[in-house]
Amino acid sequence: MKMAILPILTYSSIIAVPLFLFIYAISSIVGATYMYVPIEALLGISLAIFCISNGMEIFVYKGRTKNILRLSRTEVDQTKSIPAHLAGSKSTKTITLNIKRFNSKEKQLELHKYKVQVDKFTSVLTALLKVKSHSDGTLSIRCSCNMGICGSCGMEVNGKPVLACETNVLKNLKNGDEVEISPMTGHPMIKDLVTDFDDFFSKHISVDPYLDRKNKGEQYAAKEIYNQSNGDINKFLPYSYCIMCGLCLDACPVVNTNPEFAGPQALSQGYRYYADSRDQMGAARLEIMNTPEMVWGCEFAGACSDACPKGVDPAGAIQLLKFEVIKNSLMGNASDNK
Ligand code: SF4
Ligand code: FES
Repeated sequence: MKMAILPILTYSSIIAVPLFLFIYAISSIVGATYMYVPIEALLGISLAIFCISNGMEIFVYKGRTKNILRLSRTEVDQTKSIPAHLAGSKSTKTITLNIKRFNSKEKQLELHKYKVQVDKFTSVLTALLKVKSHSDGTLSIRCSCNMGICGSCGMEVNGKPVLACETNVLKNLKNGDEVEISPMTGHPMIKDLVTDFDDFFSKHISVDPYLDRKNKGEQYAAKEIYNQSNGDINKFLPYSYCIMCGLCLDACPVVNTNPEFAGPQALSQGYRYYADSRDQMGAARLEIMNTPEMVWGCEFAGACSDACPKGVDPAGAIQLLKFEVIKNSLMGNASDNK
C-alpha cells in the first residue's frame, strides 16, 4: 500500500508546487484570492496521502473561526531506536552497586553491595530505585523529577558529584561491572545517600537572592513594566539556570576545608541579582560580597563549574563579582556603573 501511494504523492507534489507558484503569481497580479482554493485543496490531499502512507493519523478540529489540522504518528515501533544487539532480554547486564551508606547512629559510612539488572538506558537513580524496590527497602535516596530539574538527587558516583537521574550507569562502570555510589561529602549527611541542605540554603539566603527595589512596595506590586534589552537579559540569564542541586559546593575544595566560605552557588546567585538591571541594591550588594567568606574566599579552582549540570559557571560569576567589588571600591556607586 505504501509503495503504491508514494508515487502518487510524488506526482501530485510535482504538479502541485509549480501550479501553486503559477497561480500565486497570477493571483498577485489580478488580486483574485479565490484562485488559491483549488490548489490549496490539492496540496491538502497530497499532505493527507503523505501522512497516511507514513502511519500518521489526521485529526481535524473545527473551531469557531478556523480548522486546525493536527498530525500524530501512530504505531511507533519502540524497538526501532534500539540497536539489534541490545534489543530484548539479552541487552540487560547484571552489575554491582557499591553503595556507601551513611549510618546515622554510628555516624560513619558503611559499604553495601547490591546486584541489579540494568540496560544501556538505565540511570544511576533508576538502578538505586530498583534496589530500593526489590532488594533493600531501607535504602534512603532523595529524588523527585527524574529529569534533571528539581536538583534533589545529587550524590557522588565514582567520587564525582553528579545528578543520579542524569548519569548513565553503564557508562560509569569500574572493574568491569561495578559502580561506586556515595553521599555528597561537601554537605552534612543525614542517612544513606541523603544529605542536609540547611547550611546550603542559609548561604543562599545570605546573598539576598531577590530583586531589591528602592521603593519596597514594588517588590510586592510592580509599578511599571520593567523593560530589558537582550543585552540586559544576557548579563544574568546564564546564572539564573541554577537548580540548587549543591553539586558545585560538593566539588569546591575551599568549602570542604573552610565551612564559613559561602561557596559557589550562593556567590553565583549574588552575581545573578547584581547583574540584573531591575535590581537596585547596587553597592550595598557588593559590600556584602566584599569579605573573606564571600568572594575573597574563592581560589578559582574551577571545580564548581566543571561539576555544574546546568552550565551555570559559578567560578566565572565569582570572578566577575570580584571585578565589580574592586571597581566599586575604586570608582564609587556600583548601581551607577552597571
Ligand atoms: S550552580 Fe550549578 S552545581 Fe551549583 S547548585 Fe546551581 S545548578 Fe547546582
Ligand atoms: S530527580 Fe530531579 S534532578 Fe534528579
